[in-house]
Parts: sequence; structure tokens; C-alpha cells
Amino acid sequence: MADKYILSNSTTGDTVDLNLITGTDGPAALDITGLYKERGLLAYDPGFVSTASCTSSITYIDGERGILRYRGYPIEQLAANSNFLEVAHLLLYGELPTKTELLEFEGIISQHTMIRETMRTFFDGFHYNAHPMAIMIGVTGSMSAFYHDSLDIHDPRHREISAHRMIAKIPTIAAACYKHNVGEPIMYPRNDLDYCGNFLHMMFATPCEEYVPSKTAIEAMNLLFILHADHEQNASTSTVRLAGSSGANPFACIASGIASLWGPAHGGANEAVLKMLEEIGDVSNIAKYIAKAKDKNDPFRLMGFGHRVYRNFDPRATLIREMCHKVLAELSDEHNPLLELASQLEEVALKDEYFIERKLYPNVDYYSGIIYRALNIPANMFTVMFAIARTVGWVAHWSEMISDPSQRIGRPRQIYVGAKERDYVPIDKR
Ligand code: CMC
Repeated sequence: MADKYILSNSTTGDTVDLNLITGTDGPAALDITGLYKERGLLAYDPGFVSTASCTSSITYIDGERGILRYRGYPIEQLAANSNFLEVAHLLLYGELPTKTELLEFEGIISQHTMIRETMRTFFDGFHYNAHPMAIMIGVTGSMSAFYHDSLDIHDPRHREISAHRMIAKIPTIAAACYKHNVGEPIMYPRNDLDYCGNFLHMMFATPCEEYVPSKTAIEAMNLLFILHADHEQNASTSTVRLAGSSGANPFACIASGIASLWGPAHGGANEAVLKMLEEIGDVSNIAKYIAKAKDKNDPFRLMGFGHRVYRNFDPRATLIREMCHKVLAELSDEHNPLLELASQLEEVALKDEYFIERKLYPNVDYYSGIIYRALNIPANMFTVMFAIARTVGWVAHWSEMISDPSQRIGRPRQIYVGAKERDYVPIDKR
């Protein structure tokens, strides 16, 4: 028999029996699905700190022990041995591909890299200095207007084609946002290059000059994309799921995910880290900024520190820190004051009682911006880079949700705290 929890009302003695649901790993959950129907009670959990919104077999996180696994595989093993498209296959289909499956998958993705020619004219409608995330949201949403032939969300083949299109076209859209910002012609993709190499080509080549990325640049980008590919029910993934639960088309859902990712508490943190380091400017100012971060009357927070789920360390940060040193050693021979500032700020914060008590450690985005900067990617593109990688996680979650026969529209309730019923007062009597 399943374990049960019994909740009781201390005044009336009324009890509610709640079944426990367990997964393959991680904490058990109380099944409260019948709570409202049977007892007229709601569960209150702002920020969903103790709420499992769904079951999922894609990603597992143990925040206390600093564990992250995609489909059961530890992130450290994937980071050391895999590449982004292999990980994308894993997330989407549940298994690492065989050699033949990988070749086929790479072939399919590369066949979908171009965007419709008329879509390219959309970019001209944006101001030259529009934030690339703003352009991304608009252009990604517009894909719903171009790819009607794969919009039947109840047809598994349509869902698969839409997933392929999203993964293949998002780097093309992202690079086009950058080209629009810098006033250069949008580059066509090159299907003879791998996923990361092609993205760097679309970013930095021009019709008059080829761009040959270094091996280290491609290696770093693969790592960053793998680490950012999925992270279970974070804000943007939950946004995609909620948007998708109403039956909205996948392109509209991914556009909503990009919008949610943009905030500085989520994917916008990597851009915010760089801005913060530039604002701090010098190691002599570290103490002042640590004091600001601790001051409850000051809105300043140490960007790139803390995580809702990781209360020990972020395993992605460890992998990124190592890559950051490698990239800077190989790609910039000068002394890098930003990295030195970041290292010292990290050291001071990790010894500070405020950060120790609250288990605030550097997260994945603390170092990612420094790597992107070394690759000549401007700060306003950092969150775009995150969005390219997370698109894989978003489509995997969207597909998983739509294929689940028990899927229903997501519809949270609320505790109403507004005015009680009152009568309308004519305007001349107010
Ligand atoms: N600097 C200073 N204090 C902090 C910070 C920080 N970065 N993060 C949390 N705290 C404090 C917070 O003030 C609170 O203190 P107290 O208990 O005294 O009120 C305590 O730590 C708990 O914070 P919280 O806001 O309740 O934690 P949360 O789980 O709601 O927020 C977070 C998590 C990531 C939004 C938050 O830590 C934060 O804003 N960090 C900076 C932004 C950032 O780096 N975000 C990227 C997250 S990783 C990439 C991704 O997955 O998107």
C-alpha cells in the first residue's frame, strides 16, 4: 500500500489523507490533486518552492548534493565526452544516439538551418540598437506564421518537425539579431559546419571575409551549450509548459520561454554579472559591493550568486570555471583584470558569513559571461546564447508534456485578499 500523510485541522479535528508520490530519485510529493474537489482547500506556495508541477523523465537535480543529470547521465560525463547535438538528441529522444542516429540527426538539423527569406526582412523593422532578446522574442513568435505545415500539436510527427525546426533555426535567428545590431549583412548558415562552428560563422563572418573559429572557441561553446541545455522546471521552462498546456503552437510557446528567460534573476544574470563586474571596476571596491549586497535596504544583489535549487554548489559553475581559465589562457595572452576581479570577489563572498549562512555560491552564469566576452560576443548577446542552448530543453519539455495523456491546461488558483463585495457608486457620489 502507498505511504500516506494525514493532515488534521487542530480546531475541528477534520483529517485529510494524502498519498505520497515517489519518483525514481529525489523527494516524495504529497498528492493534493483532490484537495479542492473533496475538501474545498487550496495549497499555498508562492514561487512554487515546494511544488512539483509535473512528472518528468528529462532532467534530475539534487540541489543539496550539487547533482545535475540529463536522462540519468551526470553532467560532468556529458561535458567531458559529448557535444551539443548529441546532448540535444539525448534530451529530445531519451537516449544517446548510435553513430548512425547521430549522423541522421545532425543531417536533419542542418537541413533546417535556413529561415524563410521573407522572415529576414522582419529584422529591418527593429531599431538598430534594439536589444537582441527583444528581437528574438518577436522573430521566434513569428515562426508560427511561417511553418503552418507542422502546427498540429496532436500529431507526433508534426511535433518532431517543429522541434527540429526550432533547434536548427534558433542560432540563425540569434546571429541575425547580432548582425542587425552591428549593421552587417545577415549571413546564411553553412551546413558543412557543426552546430557551434556554424553559429560562430553566422556571427563573425561577412560576405567579404570568412571566419575560422579556433578549436578552443568551439570547445567552449559546446560546453556552455551543454550546461545550459536543460534545468528541469525553471521559470522559462515552466512558462513554456504553461503556455503549451493551453494548446498554443510550439513557436509561440518558445517565444514565451525566451521572454521569461530574459529577466536578471534567470537567464539575464550572465549579462548582469558582466555589468556588475564593470561597475565594481577594481578589487579595491569589492568590500563596498559585498556590503551593498548584504544591505537589505539596498536592491543590489551579487549577480551570478545563489540559486533556488542548488544549496551547496552549482556543478555547472565548477565546469565553467575550469573552461574560463582555459579560454583566457589560450585566447587572450594579456592579463585579464575582469577574471581577476571575478576570482577575488568569489573568494571574499565565499568566506563571508552572510553568504555562508544562506548557502549562496557562484552559479553557472558567474563565469559564462567572461568566456563569451573572450569569444568577442557582446554582453547583450549573453542571454541570447543561453536561449539558443535552452531551446533544446524547452522543446523536450513541451513535447513530453503534449505526449502525456493526462496533460491538462495549467491553471493555478489564488488566495483572494482584495475588497469584499461592495456596491457600485455613481461617479458624482464618490
Ligand atoms: N546576493 C545577495 N543576497 C542574496 C542573493 C544574491 N545574489 N541571492 C539570494 N540572496 C539572499 C536573499 O536576500 C535572501 O536573504 P534573507 O533570507 O536574509 O531574506 C536569501 O539569500 C534567500 O534568497 P531568495 O531570494 O529567497 O532566494 P530565491 O531562491 O528566491 O532566489 C535567485 C534565487 C537565483 C533568484 C537569487 O539567488 C538571485 O537573485 N541571484 C542573483 C541572480 C542570478 O545570479 N540568477 C541566475 C540563476 S542561475 C541561472 C538560471 O538558472 O537562470
